[in-house]
Amino acid sequence: MQPKTSISDVVGVEESAAAQQAATTPVVRLEGVHKRFGDNVVLDGIDLTIEAKEVLVVIGRSGSGKSTLLRCINLLEPIQQGRILFEGEEITRKGADASAIRQRIGIVFQQFNLFPHLRALANVTLAARRVKKMPRSEAERRGRELLARVGLGEKAESYPHELSGGQQQRVAIARALMMEPHLMLFDEVTSALDPELVGEVLVVMRDLAESGMTMVVVTHEMQFARDVGDRLVFMDDGRIVEEGRPGDVLANPRDQRTRRFLRRTLLLDHALEGLTVEEGGSE
Ligand SMILES: Nc1ncnc2c1ncn2[C@@H]1O[C@H](COP(=O)(O)OP(=O)(O)OP(=O)(O)O)[C@@H](O)[C@H]1O
Ligand SMILES: [Mg+2]
Repeated sequence: MQPKTSISDVVGVEESAAAQQAATTPVVRLEGVHKRFGDNVVLDGIDLTIEAKEVLVVIGRSGSGKSTLLRCINLLEPIQQGRILFEGEEITRKGADASAIRQRIGIVFQQFNLFPHLRALANVTLAARRVKKMPRSEAERRGRELLARVGLGEKAESYPHELSGGQQQRVAIARALMMEPHLMLFDEVTSALDPELVGEVLVVMRDLAESGMTMVVVTHEMQFARDVGDRLVFMDDGRIVEEGRPGDVLANPRDQRTRRFLRRTLLLDHALEGLTVEEGGSE
């Protein structure tokens, strides 16, 4: 039997003195961040610090600004006020090298956005080869390692249409890890999956968290938030209205809006349980 390796063996958390020094600087810091689309204020003064190796879970109603928050951190959206620091460097300053910064921040979306005409391995290695100019042999070796670590060692030669949604999403995670990011952003990455495929993606994310990756996770998976999250923030109308340890916030939400949101989420989780479609249709 082969010895079992984990994602941490591949992703690797450096133990050098420099890395330890870096570990004391927050990975991300948002200071008074405002974001508007026209008159629509979407982020209304966000202050947030994410420490190295921290897993921050973000929850909130639809439209509360969760995706926009991630997109601003990744410089996919410009902000109108405030600033964002990444590893101590202000990335929202004029003249910042957005593409270099984005290489250090991996993002995974609800839609996997794999290239349909490329095999899994080519999807994973494409950016590293094009952007980082990594030689093909090295890119493929590392790509295969990462695919194996997300449980897809046998699927390197498969095309996206030959893979399940959960497998495609794991390819997308491997693709993001290929750039050796210092931060991973996950935006509802299990929301489009059939329920039986959610677990395999969450397990990959849990293992990544255990390997020491710094992560911001927008999710409706409250069990994951509780088990894997170090901290949870609840957003409403572009503001952080509550934050704390996930177990505490979920068990004892202090803010009325958090309570209402959680009540509705839990209701939705259970409302359909036990219901069946009677023959002959509804009453
Ligand atoms: N590109 C855009 N142009 C204009 N308005 C936008 C754009 N992107 C988002 N918005 C608006 O910003 C607000 C916040 O959207 P955002 O997608 O961040 O919410 P969310 O919390 O991620 O919601 P959901 O849970 O539905 O994904 C919404 O009012 C949305 O209509
Ligand atoms: Mg969203």
